[in-house]
Amino acid sequence: MKVVKTIQEVRNQVSIWRKEGLSIGFVPTMGYLHEGHQSLIRKSAEQNDRTVVSVFVNPIQFGPNEDLEAYPRDLERDKAAVEEAGGDLIFNPEPSEMYPNHFTSFIDTTETTELLCGAVRPIHFRGVCTVVGKLFNIVLPDRAYFGQKDAQQLATIRRFVRDLNFPVEVIACPIVRESDGLAKSSRNTYLNPAERQAAVILSKSLNLGREAIEQGERDAKKVIAVITASLQSEPLARIDYVEVVDFENIQRVERIAGETLVAIAVYIGKTRLIDNFVITL
Ligand code: PAF
Repeated sequence: MKVVKTIQEVRNQVSIWRKEGLSIGFVPTMGYLHEGHQSLIRKSAEQNDRTVVSVFVNPIQFGPNEDLEAYPRDLERDKAAVEEAGGDLIFNPEPSEMYPNHFTSFIDTTETTELLCGAVRPIHFRGVCTVVGKLFNIVLPDRAYFGQKDAQQLATIRRFVRDLNFPVEVIACPIVRESDGLAKSSRNTYLNPAERQAAVILSKSLNLGREAIEQGERDAKKVIAVITASLQSEPLARIDYVEVVDFENIQRVERIAGETLVAIAVYIGKTRLIDNFVITL
């Protein structure tokens, strides 16, 4: 698996592929890859001639008290995972390659970032959009792949790609789960065995919410109440938010209709986990 560290090396490789008339898919990641990331790489490899994967723990999307230093890193493992899933090139820059001195330009979005994670992680989406925009400009992909697990991130990236005319097709891919329902996440590695068992409450509670909607409940507050009561039954869980929003604009809805995102963030011990489902009525 070829790993490059500089923007110039990515550009050189991409320009060779373009001269050969090849299409390019792109999967941005922060590394410590799991089957969720691999499902994105597999999809890209299916739909494109070549797939670039970035592995970069992006410092500007972490707040001062977040887990930037602790975020798990293992490039050797990531190389094997990319290879196995059909990727062709890893871009693994140093922070100084992405953010030279006096870096002062950002992609900032409103509306889709007001609620959910945006409400409690004020600089997070500015950091995500800025790095993703930079990576798009470096890789110049035809298609880019994002997991629905980070649903607000997906909606926000779709929005800036549309608003700022980035010539890339954003492809959403379904959440990949452990056999007990826990959504795959690099942060699951922070959980001790008791917390890991407790974490299954996220998907269980969302399933109850989904069942309520499927049985005809349309009142968002009632769905939130069902999910909240279930989450509260787990002593190790502390709710950050339970929200029902429209998936396009990430604004609260009272009545469930159209494409609706039901999203939760929950602390299990010190680890903050997110999960969601999207339902279209
Ligand atoms: O979803 C992630 O892992 C990150 O937010 C992303 C899109 C790679 C940007 O750093």
